[in-house]
Amino acid sequence: MKLMPTVFCLLLVVLALGGARVEARGTPSADQGSKNQWSSMFVFGDGFVDNGNLPKTDTWRQWSYPYGSYLNSRGSATPVPTGRLSNYWIQSDFIARILGLNEAPPSYRLTPHLSCDPSGMTFAFGGAGVYEVPDKKVPTLATQVNAFTRLLNTGVISKQQLQSSVALVSISGSDYMTGANVDNAFLSSFDDIDSYIGNVTTEIAKNVGKLQRLGVRKVLVNNMHPIGCTPLRTSANNYTTCDLLANYAATVHNNNIEHLMGNKNNAHILDLYTAFTDIVNHAPGEGSEQSNNFKRKLTPCCEASTELGYCGQVSPSGKRLYDLCKNPEKNFYWDETYPTTAGWEAVTEALEEPLREFLDRDYVP
Ligand SMILES: *[C@@H]1O[C@H](CO)[C@@H](O)[C@H](O)[C@H]1NC(C)=O
Ligand SMILES: *[C@@H]1O[C@H](CO)[C@@H](O)[C@H](O)[C@H]1NC(C)=O
Repeated sequence: MKLMPTVFCLLLVVLALGGARVEARGTPSADQGSKNQWSSMFVFGDGFVDNGNLPKTDTWRQWSYPYGSYLNSRGSATPVPTGRLSNYWIQSDFIARILGLNEAPPSYRLTPHLSCDPSGMTFAFGGAGVYEVPDKKVPTLATQVNAFTRLLNTGVISKQQLQSSVALVSISGSDYMTGANVDNAFLSSFDDIDSYIGNVTTEIAKNVGKLQRLGVRKVLVNNMHPIGCTPLRTSANNYTTCDLLANYAATVHNNNIEHLMGNKNNAHILDLYTAFTDIVNHAPGEGSEQSNNFKRKLTPCCEASTELGYCGQVSPSGKRLYDLCKNPEKNFYWDETYPTTAGWEAVTEALEEPLREFLDRDYVP
């Protein structure tokens, strides 16, 4: 009983300090940087930033063992799948660290009902696009934003949290894959392709606009990485060169994004195209230091050992049906689509400076 007043006083001190910290948020000084101002993050889009929404029982990709298995070498006793489509950390983890968080906010699926972590939430879903993929039950970008809207409307996510929140939107080409809506669109000419890409980018911009109207202060939007350089496309020529037509589509996409979003207040385009290209597809002799750190740039680390198999596949008797490279630190790509943690680290380094400038800039109401 005697202790009570002491505890109470301590509590008051803690509250007062907490209050002071909140006050300081409005005026970030150089040494505080964006760390204190942006304490929460909401993540939308696809597998570049999904950290656990893709269910393990998913039939189109039996995601299990190799994903996150290298957690092992970083201090955990047994390999633990992290829910990420990579060997360990992914883009949203690195962006979260720039904000001063430890890692990406927890996934929607793994967050307890009617709650929201102070660091935010990840709605992104591996394989998602702006359009529905007919035979895959993947929530589109708009569906993800709707889920976020519901949590806001019901007060699970508070207005206060929203004010110190940054959103990250990643749409990285699911809409342009075989089996996607594009197959139903009967694209037979460059005009059709341009029109379809125009529709995809318009949808992205619409959702960004919606997030801003809902009160998210700052929005980060990935542009399209050079999709012609993913191992999925380079496998056709033994992982030697990028597919130029696919990269052309990415540049059309990016010109649209720039046009729709380039001058928008409180929105920032993360230039994945340049960051990826500088690493995996620079002109010979112009390799940056970053680029030279990678020995294998167009080849997956994790590869199916059978023709129709996939990374992570195991036989009914539990036999591994995929091969892993020896040194994922030297591989840019983890599997046929997603970069390694080392790849993401290098990409984030290239994005960091303009991103910090954007975050430090005043919010324009
Ligand atoms: C783009 O959207 C418009 C309007 O919804 C539609 O009429 C058109 O068919 C779409 N284009 C393609 C190539 O999907
Ligand atoms: C593909 O590349 C590997 C490794 O460089 C080589 O051993 C193999 O012969 C090549 N295959 C073809 C079909 O070019």
